[in-house]
Amino acid sequence: MKISIVGGGYVGLISSICFAELGHCINLIEIDVEKASAINSAKPPIYEKGLEELLSKHARRDLTATTDYSGISESDVTFICVGTPPNHDGSADLSMIESASRSIGSALKDCDRYHVVTVKSTVPPGTTQNLVMPAVLKESCRSQCEIGFVMNPEFLREGLAIQDFMNPDRIVIGSTDGREGDIVQSLYCGLEAPVVRTGIAAAEMIKYASNAMLATKISFANEVGNICKRLGVDVYEVMRGVGMDHRISPHFLNAGAGFGGSCFPKDVSGLLSLAKSLGEDPILLKSVLEVNEHQPLRMVELLQRRIGDLKDKRIAVLGLAFKNDTDDARESRSLPVIESLLMKGASVFAYDPKANESMRKILPGVLYCRNASEALMSADACLIMTEWPEFGQLDEEFDLMRSKVIIEGRRILSCRDAEGICW
Ligand code: UDX
Repeated sequence: MKISIVGGGYVGLISSICFAELGHCINLIEIDVEKASAINSAKPPIYEKGLEELLSKHARRDLTATTDYSGISESDVTFICVGTPPNHDGSADLSMIESASRSIGSALKDCDRYHVVTVKSTVPPGTTQNLVMPAVLKESCRSQCEIGFVMNPEFLREGLAIQDFMNPDRIVIGSTDGREGDIVQSLYCGLEAPVVRTGIAAAEMIKYASNAMLATKISFANEVGNICKRLGVDVYEVMRGVGMDHRISPHFLNAGAGFGGSCFPKDVSGLLSLAKSLGEDPILLKSVLEVNEHQPLRMVELLQRRIGDLKDKRIAVLGLAFKNDTDDARESRSLPVIESLLMKGASVFAYDPKANESMRKILPGVLYCRNASEALMSADACLIMTEWPEFGQLDEEFDLMRSKVIIEGRRILSCRDAEGICW
């Protein structure tokens, strides 16, 4: 079918490329001219495993990026994949959702065929019904029997987004009527996955609750880890035993410096803010975020216990993105760690295989190294923040350090000189 996708970021670009792989024709609308032309010349503006190969296969054939909305009236379905970043109070900023909805509506004004508008962005329950639908219908001057509305959340992990799109645990389709839901479900033909057909608000909540549950597992593992650390017990041994219960599963129980990224912090805050606006007191969700706020600073506390005053010390920080296999530094746990080190007068030598440039934009006052050895040279201590496999290979490089104090925020090193934040 002909699909329009609004927003060429992590979700929109990956969805475009995967729908093209499933045989559909994609009209990707990206307002950033440079991004749109990079996509058309098969140069991915973001790093994702497998994206470059698929982009060169589909760009300018069955996937075209453009900056204008006119192609929408020629398509059958339009996906909204724009960002919903957090406002200062933690609530979701829906301004891009609203402007995309208006633009889609005006593009559908002269369209004489049935069209389905689908929200894929993560939005607070009620957004599709109360914001997207009125905006599209008003701008298009059309009725609800001519335009269908669906909510179809994504469950893509950065770095594994293509794999996650093509191998979903489930496909969630929220709609009020069978017709529009059937149309969106048919787009996924070729993927083997259970389909959850439900209401629109329930679909919005499934996404929020899934991310909040995953974040809760991580904060739980970190809290148990902090207790284990005082007992001299290895929390990874504990969670290995805990995770064998089929009701718990071993996934997302890796203790460390906390969760980052553009989703978990934003979505837990969004759900928390929604709860408050409805008169609920989200006690558990508040504590999930509180544990996560404190966790990275435990790296600095542990470091101070090991080497004392950090003033004029040289600290290597390996891992800058919010996790390995991505260049995305949004909400990275390395941010509060580096800011705290700089505040205490340390000089920071940072390295990440992919995220040096992303972090440089956020924290210019840090020395970014080309490799781990350069960062470790004469360092008084080293903090490992993400699970890049190349960090796991490090061993003799640590001999370059002035003093071999190594603290892990993620369990990755094979050499046993390291101490863990929770192990
Ligand atoms: C997450 C969800 O997994 C995905 O389903 C959703 O669509 C978007 O948000 P993402 O944020 O890209 O994906 O990465 P993910 O792999 O989930 O990791 C999120 C954060 O949790 C990272 O900072 C990671 O280091 C951390 N994490 C993950 C842990 O600290 N412990 C774990 O056991 C797993």
